[in-house]
Amino acid sequence: MVIATRKTTHNGTKTSSFGCNGRFGHDSSKFYSGKMYTNIPKNNLENAIENTIPTKNLNKLFCKSSDKMEELPDNSIHLMITSPPYNVGKEYDENLSLDEYRKLLYNVFKEVFRVLIVGGRACVNIANVGRKPYIPFHSFIIEDMIKIGFFMRGEIIWNKGASAGSSTAWGSWKSATNPTLRDVHEYILVFSKGDNGRKPSLGKEDTITKEEFMEFTKSIWTFPSQSAKAIGHPAPFPTELPLRLIKLYTFTNDIVLDPFMGSGQTAIAALQTKRNFIGYDIDKTYCKLAEERIKKECSQTTLKCVIANPQKILDMNCGFVIRSQTKSYPDSFV
Ligand SMILES: C[S@@+](CC[C@H](N)C(=O)[O-])C[C@H]1O[C@@H](n2cnc3c(N)ncnc32)[C@H](O)[C@@H]1O
Repeated sequence: MVIATRKTTHNGTKTSSFGCNGRFGHDSSKFYSGKMYTNIPKNNLENAIENTIPTKNLNKLFCKSSDKMEELPDNSIHLMITSPPYNVGKEYDENLSLDEYRKLLYNVFKEVFRVLIVGGRACVNIANVGRKPYIPFHSFIIEDMIKIGFFMRGEIIWNKGASAGSSTAWGSWKSATNPTLRDVHEYILVFSKGDNGRKPSLGKEDTITKEEFMEFTKSIWTFPSQSAKAIGHPAPFPTELPLRLIKLYTFTNDIVLDPFMGSGQTAIAALQTKRNFIGYDIDKTYCKLAEERIKKECSQTTLKCVIANPQKILDMNCGFVIRSQTKSYPDSFV
């Protein structure tokens, strides 16, 4: 379906049945005043004060369930990026019923809603599972996120391309009897707390280039998946995924939360882009793996690895102590 736009006699376009190419200074009031939007709640929240996270809890991984994140105050996180457990029999998966599984995610995302600043984004990477029938996790998550109070902003189809093409579960080969679809994509569902935008505060900067902005605002992203073996975790996403979201939705020095941190890919992407991270994972083995990987990232990439407070010791819950770099900060950042 195409909702067209047409050029107005003023300096912009507006909603119209037949249109022109592109939009600029667009007046969409006709579209939003239509009946379709009548029962959709308005979501402009009061701009609440951003609370500060105690330094001892910044750039830290908590080895515990994220359904209670009492370490984090309300309205304190700028961006959440996560890929939840899939409940499909991976090492860390419990064998939950669909209702129990939805309840687990609901509780965690409710906590995310509490800790997210007004205007902050929550991005959920999810794939659907099964064929008999196909279980549309993405659709359940959208329903539950909206129930929690999130404002849906869009969805990105992550085309995993050739890296996802190896399944031979064709169903009936070359026959209409019963062919099966083979997913080569996952979703990244994008929500915000309120429909508010954000203003960078003093010392915070955008870091996205023009080319990246033009590419990352498209709703289909193509890059390969991450080998599980190479990382040592059964379901890591590639750092490309959090890197894109971080560049698109945060300023330098912002705080990025991953409530299902796994191998630490979100933390690594945050460090590489001069953002802070906070992670949770319930599994001690993965906490330790993430810590080791973060530590390696810090020691290998002096120029890239920046932690908010240069004097700070990055002490991890599982026993690792990582000292941050002290000499690699651009002046504008410190
Ligand atoms: C799909 S993996 C995340 C992978 C991660 N994105 C990465 O790139 O490595 C989901 C993770 O959630 C963790 N997990 C499961 N239940 C949890 C809970 N209640 N609280 C926190 N973490 C949990 C699992 O241990 C697992 O590492």
